[in-house]
Amino acid sequence: MKTKTLRYSGVAFLLATASPSFASQALMPVRTPAIVSSEILDLLGIPAEKSDKALGLSYAELRPEQAAAIGHYMHANGRCGGFEALAASIESDAAFAELMQPLKKAETSRALFATHLTSLNAAPVVARQDLLQAFDDVSAEKQQAWVQFLSSFPSRYHNTSDPNVHVRAIQARLEEIAKTSKLPITIELISHQRTPQKSIRARILGSKRPTEIVVIGGHLDSISGWFGREAAPGADDNASGSANILESFRLLSQMAQPDRTIEFYWYAAEEIGLVGSAEIARDAKAANKDIVGALQLDMTLHPGDGPFTLASMEDFTSPWLRDLLVQINSAYALGAKIVGDKCNYGCSDHASWYQNGYPTVMPFESSFDNMNHEIHTPRDVINSASNFQHSALFTKIAMAFAWELANSDRREPKL
Ligand code: BES
Ligand code: ZN
Repeated sequence: MKTKTLRYSGVAFLLATASPSFASQALMPVRTPAIVSSEILDLLGIPAEKSDKALGLSYAELRPEQAAAIGHYMHANGRCGGFEALAASIESDAAFAELMQPLKKAETSRALFATHLTSLNAAPVVARQDLLQAFDDVSAEKQQAWVQFLSSFPSRYHNTSDPNVHVRAIQARLEEIAKTSKLPITIELISHQRTPQKSIRARILGSKRPTEIVVIGGHLDSISGWFGREAAPGADDNASGSANILESFRLLSQMAQPDRTIEFYWYAAEEIGLVGSAEIARDAKAANKDIVGALQLDMTLHPGDGPFTLASMEDFTSPWLRDLLVQINSAYALGAKIVGDKCNYGCSDHASWYQNGYPTVMPFESSFDNMNHEIHTPRDVINSASNFQHSALFTKIAMAFAWELANSDRREPKL
């Protein structure tokens, strides 16, 4: 219990890391005005001058040995710094309140705090033996075969004369796979109001908590030219992510039944404004569906920052799932370098889930600037820049995300 309480000192830690605050002992003045976690002050018997109960933060004027004690304590608990030293002392309650104001308001600091809390309090991801074994079957060759299959349709645009020709072909492949599985699997086409194209859902029913759902998905349409009139092979955008989800389904369907339900989606009509996923996420919310988290794969083939460097999109996504992604990468020794980036708009289907209140994560082929610039043209084909090793990495990520969430009780932390 003791450690748990102490571990809640996240805000102070964040503040400390956000500023060059941990002055060396030699330069430290006689008293250091500082913002510290109230719990830490309590614990070390250091008096607080002012406190904000809701935030759990206090203002104190620290003597060198007190500052050292906090630093020592935080280091002993695996943290550094431990407080934010201020440039000047705080004289009034109003000045303290003003300093606390941005923390109270800022959604981002709440989100950061949430991540921090989760990473401290949730059990760390530990590689599961059965999944490591399944990874032996993930290959660049198989990824290439799936991308070839999907990108050889002249177009997967949502409104061609037969916008479901590839949808039926994918469905047929899924049904073949399901036949080889012992698990309770359903495969459905989902009709939409705003497009003639259908989405696909494959579901592996959970054994213990079937109403708790983990989602992995990507869009099955492509686009090129005005009104989609040009050839639209969409090898990268998004045969690649669709292929990752197909392969994840194939391999997970050969494993044991998960505790939670896993749903695999291939969304219709993403390219004209997230149309398929918007209806699916809206309906899920209306039906009060318990979607624990949704991972989106949209473009995984072009390693614009070099092989195995990928971006984790930080808008329309959830800090605790981004954190899970980082943990999965190290626990399973996937060898990815993960950089943070943003689309700055709802660039893919994860935004549909996010806007309906569901947690999301989106690993992406590269930083936004170095992504494949041939997308939405007839030149988005398999070429010398395509890297199927890089792309196959995303299959492992999707599988580990699904497997970890579906066999644990991990959830978005509620503040
Ligand atoms: N694959 C892209 C999304 C994307 C682009 C993600 C760049 C990350 C970086 C997606 O298929 C797409 O084209 N989205 C549209 C927006 C959508 C709302 C129509 C886009 O980015 O223009
Ligand atoms: Zn696109």
